[in-house]
Amino acid sequence: MSVIQRHFEKLTERTERMSNENLRNARSQKNDEYFTLYEDIEKELEHYTEQFEDKIVYCNCDNPDISNFYKYFKDNFKRLKLKRLIATHYIQNTRTEKTEFDGETETRELLNGNGDFRSDECIDILKGCDIVITNPPFSLFRSFVAQLIEHNKKFLIIGSQNAITYKEIFPLLKDNKMWLGNNHVKEFRKPDGTIQKFGNICWFTNLDIKKRHEPLKLTKHYTPEEYPRYDNYNAINVNKIADIPCDYNKYIGVPITFIDKYCPEQFEIIGHTHYSDTSLQVEELRLDENHRHRGYIDGQEKYARILIKLKDSDNLCNGIIGVPITYIDKHNPDEFEIIGVSEECGVGLSCGIKDEDNTTKHPLVEGKKKYARIFIKPKEDTEICNGVIGVPISFLEKFNPEQFEILGLTSGRNEFDKEAWPIKKYEKAIQHNKDGSTTNGSKANTRATLIIDDAKSPPVQLSADAIFKFFSFNSSTSFSIFSITTLISS
Ligand SMILES: C[S@@+](CC[C@H](N)C(=O)[O-])C[C@H]1O[C@@H](n2cnc3c(N)ncnc32)[C@H](O)[C@@H]1O
Repeated sequence: MSVIQRHFEKLTERTERMSNENLRNARSQKNDEYFTLYEDIEKELEHYTEQFEDKIVYCNCDNPDISNFYKYFKDNFKRLKLKRLIATHYIQNTRTEKTEFDGETETRELLNGNGDFRSDECIDILKGCDIVITNPPFSLFRSFVAQLIEHNKKFLIIGSQNAITYKEIFPLLKDNKMWLGNNHVKEFRKPDGTIQKFGNICWFTNLDIKKRHEPLKLTKHYTPEEYPRYDNYNAINVNKIADIPCDYNKYIGVPITFIDKYCPEQFEIIGHTHYSDTSLQVEELRLDENHRHRGYIDGQEKYARILIKLKDSDNLCNGIIGVPITYIDKHNPDEFEIIGVSEECGVGLSCGIKDEDNTTKHPLVEGKKKYARIFIKPKEDTEICNGVIGVPISFLEKFNPEQFEILGLTSGRNEFDKEAWPIKKYEKAIQHNKDGSTTNGSKANTRATLIIDDAKSPPVQLSADAIFKFFSFNSSTSFSIFSITTLISS
C-alpha cells in the first residue's frame, strides 16, 4: 500500500470515526431523527405509480404514528393497488410493534425485539415483502443497502449524496444495481417540529424510472486544447457535465454529480478516481503508482471524478481530428498519428477520409469551407506490442507464408496511386538487429515491409530513401507538406 493510500485510509477512518461519533452524540441528544416531509414523498412517488400493483410495501424504519411514508401509502393504498403495507420501527432497549394495513383494517402486533432492521424477525418480514421504501438512519446506510441487495429487494430510499463514492455503494451504481431517483430532498422535520435544511440528500432506488433512459444532450466537440488529459489517469478531464464532448470515444473523468444524469444506454461507468477503486479497468487507466487517488492536471489535484466512456453510437466520431496545418510544428508522434491531409493538397491525400460524392476539396463544416487540414488521430492507449515486426527486405528470401503474414511496407511503393499511398508508419517501431540490439524511431521505419496480399505486384520496389527522392522530384507545394511530414517524422 502506498504512502498516499495509507494517508487516505487513515483520513477516511478518522472521518468515519468522527461522523459516527457525531451521530452517536446526536442520537443521545435525540436529534438524529429527521422525518421526511409528506410533500417530498408525494413528489418522488408520483414517478413510480405503475409499479405498486399487488405489491407488499415495507417501511422498516418507520413508526406508523409519525411516519409520512406510512401515511402516504395508507392514503394511496387503493390508487396504487397495493396488496399490503407493513411498518416496523426501532427504539433502543424497547419492544416495538409491527403494523400491517390491508386496505381495510390495520393490525398491530408486538415484536420480540426493538425493531432493528437487522434483527431476524425484521429480516423475515423483509423476505416476504416486495418493495422497501423509507428514509433509513444515515449512519447505517451501507448495511441497510447491503441487506436489500442480499435479499434481492426492490427499494426506494433516501440517503446522502456522499454515499455515491462509498466503496460499498459505488460498485452498485456502476453496475446498474442502483441509481438515483428523480428529486433531491432539501428539508426534514425534527422531533421538536422545526425544519432542518440539507444540501446533499437524494433518493436511491432500483425501481426503473423514465429519467434514467433520457440521454444527456451533448453539444460540445472534443479538442485536445479544451479537454486536457490527467497526468495520472489515461483520461480527459471534464469540469461540467454539460461539457462532456459528444464525440470522444475514450475515457472521460466527470464530476460525481454525473451520476444524477447517468443514462446507461448512453454511457458506461468505468470507475472513479478514488484509491479504493482497484477494479481492473481503473487500474489499467492509472499512470502513476504514487498518485492513485484523484486526477491531477499539470500537478494540480482535481475533485473526485467518475470515469466514464460514451457507448458506441452513430454519433461517435472515429477519433480522427482535422487540425490546421500549423499543427505540424507541434506534432508529438507519441500522442498523435498523422492520417493524411485534406484533398486540396492533392488527390488521394485524405486517405479515404473525404466523402467521394462531395466535389469540394476543402473540408466543409455546415457548408462553410475550412482551410487545409491535417487529419490526426490520438495514439492507442496501449504500450503493448501489436505483433507487427519490421524486417529488412531480404526477409523475402526466407519468407514462409505458413509462418508469417506480410502486412505492409512502412515506406512505400513506386506507383503513385491512392491505395498504395505510403501512409503506414509505426510510431513505436523497434528494429531488432542481428547482434541483439534494437533501434527505435525513424531508422526502424525506413526498413521496408510491404502489404502483399496482392501477390501479383512485385513486393518491394523502393527503399524509403528512394521514395523521398521520388517525392522531392515530383513534389508540388501541396505535396511537399505531406510527403516531408510523413517521411521526416517517421
Ligand atoms: C432519518 S430517520 C427517518 C425516519 C422515517 N423513516 C422518516 O423518513 O420520517 C431514521 C430512522 O431510523 C431509525 N433507526 C435507527 N436505527 C435503526 C435500526 N437499527 N433499525 C431500524 N430503524 C432504525 C431512527 O430511530 C429514525 O427514526
